[in-house]
Amino acid sequence: MCGIVGYNGSKKAVDILLDGLSRLEYRGYDSAGVAVRDKDKEIQIFKAKGKLENLREKLEGEKLKGTCGIGHTRWATHGEPSETNAHPHVSNDGNVTLVHNGIIENYQELTAKLGRHDYTLYSETDTEVLTNIIDYYYKKYKMGPIDAINRTMVRVRGSYAIAVMFRDYPDEIWVARKDSPMIIGENEDGYYVASDVPAILKYTNKVYYIDNLEAACLKKDKVIFYDLNGDEIKKELKEIKWDVSAAEKEGYEHFMIKEINEQPDVIKKTINSFVREDYIDLSNTGLSDEEIKNFKQIYIVACGSAYHVGVCAQYVLEDLTRIPVRVEIASEFRYRKPILDKDGLVIVISQSGETADSLAALREAKNQGVKTLGIINVVGSSIAREADHVLYTLAGPEIAVATTKAFSTQLIAAYVLAIQMGYVKGKINETVYQELIEEIKTLPEKVQYELDHLTNKIQKLSSKFSHIKDAFYIGRGLDYAISLEGSLKLKEVSYIHSEAYAAGELKHGTISLIEDGTLVIGIATQEEIFEKTISNLVEVKSRGAYVVTVTSEDMDVSKVSNFTLNVPKTLKYFYPSLTVVPLQLIGYYITVSRGLDVDKPRNLAKSVTVE
Ligand code: AGP
Repeated sequence: MCGIVGYNGSKKAVDILLDGLSRLEYRGYDSAGVAVRDKDKEIQIFKAKGKLENLREKLEGEKLKGTCGIGHTRWATHGEPSETNAHPHVSNDGNVTLVHNGIIENYQELTAKLGRHDYTLYSETDTEVLTNIIDYYYKKYKMGPIDAINRTMVRVRGSYAIAVMFRDYPDEIWVARKDSPMIIGENEDGYYVASDVPAILKYTNKVYYIDNLEAACLKKDKVIFYDLNGDEIKKELKEIKWDVSAAEKEGYEHFMIKEINEQPDVIKKTINSFVREDYIDLSNTGLSDEEIKNFKQIYIVACGSAYHVGVCAQYVLEDLTRIPVRVEIASEFRYRKPILDKDGLVIVISQSGETADSLAALREAKNQGVKTLGIINVVGSSIAREADHVLYTLAGPEIAVATTKAFSTQLIAAYVLAIQMGYVKGKINETVYQELIEEIKTLPEKVQYELDHLTNKIQKLSSKFSHIKDAFYIGRGLDYAISLEGSLKLKEVSYIHSEAYAAGELKHGTISLIEDGTLVIGIATQEEIFEKTISNLVEVKSRGAYVVTVTSEDMDVSKVSNFTLNVPKTLKYFYPSLTVVPLQLIGYYITVSRGLDVDKPRNLAKSVTVE
């Protein structure tokens, strides 16, 4: 997704803008640009296609002393990646300069409107249209920036987080948002605006969140917030609990391997935020025992890896609560006119809390009057603020596009929710409750054990498979659920085609694809169906597959496995937390052996804030 940054204060803006943009690179982009202004001088704009390095080269030798500026990394939606289409965009006569993250859905009709008023466009972007619409209202009503921005927000359909500079207001940056993420930070050196926390965490952890259809003016010495009527409103300054180091590599070669290794720590933090000595405390979520007792149906809605957490959670929730659970991909749920049980609970899982489809699914549930709960990693994100209840995961900022530590903490949140709901509904007794609580506390050390004992083994294994074209991940029950994530972890970073299959489903077609040397990764930890999974692995092995098996240390797969990865023993519900770690490492090391940019895979963005 696009990234925006802005700064207005006493320091040189261009350095802060470039640093901020570099910390948003993980969002995915194909061009970048900055606009900087020195007091009442003209705004200076520099743009470049490709990586930030190209922009830095353009800026070499430029003595940009300006202390007010905006910057942008563009992930092309309307208009190809090019310097012309890169942001910042400027209105016809240079009155308005703007950067934007989002999509303007009615930009064609707005383009026609501009044409009727003699505006001309130089790019193929919806953002340039937006820039000129603000300019149009600014000139037509002559009421200044907030009036022009508010009239634009009323007229425009779509999503946006914008940072704007007006020629007549040299020491001000104006911002506004609808559906796209934005935070505003402050410190003794001035005011900051960004799409995401990592861009400004180095400068401040004191931030304001502005809501949809609100705007703000960042001056040198204060920030003023406005509602859609143009009235000033008050905003509370919040403190982000993330530390700066989390947004640095700290000696690791890539963020992905760093974040894989942070899992014991963040799993422990997330467990400790809910699990007390001998009970689970969900009081921070606001979810009452009465509400829990009343739920008759659970829906889990998410995208990508978060959806895979939902598939895992379905098995655990149904088993422990005996409530029917339906898991859906958010982009399907939001358009199928879902029939929801009024006594239902819709759980939306999202690391960023900004995924457009997941946010829309949440709003669909709320429109139907159904209770909603978010499992979210980013405090103050849109989904976190709009859900009725929130279980925050404590993964910290996750920079790599491929999620790992956030995924693992989402699993923990799902487990504690299932255990507590099962206990409150009387479906599990005190003995089982205590057994589950005791075991969940052992997961951090078990994940650490895996990292210590499997990493080198997997690094060696992965070098054998850097050339493959296909891979299959198979399992049953929770093992099938985690095979979905294993498959995504491989293909999204290594570009190797892989598929996850319910092991029992192979015989219904896909087994025809198995031939000599095909890599099949079998996950087999679930005792009740273990033999069945082994039979399926025998079937593929007899057709030439190379079988890698991820299994519990107390299970024997020697008759079928070419290469075995043993995970520590745990209760059946918690195996996803242990089997996912080798699968993450396999995806990481195969990708590295292929010489690819594992933190910023092609075509992908960390948070998909557009449909
Ligand atoms: C997973 O590695 C991907 N980065 C992607 O599937 C991600 O899980 C998905 O886009 C959902 O993002 P969210 O958790 O921020 O909503």
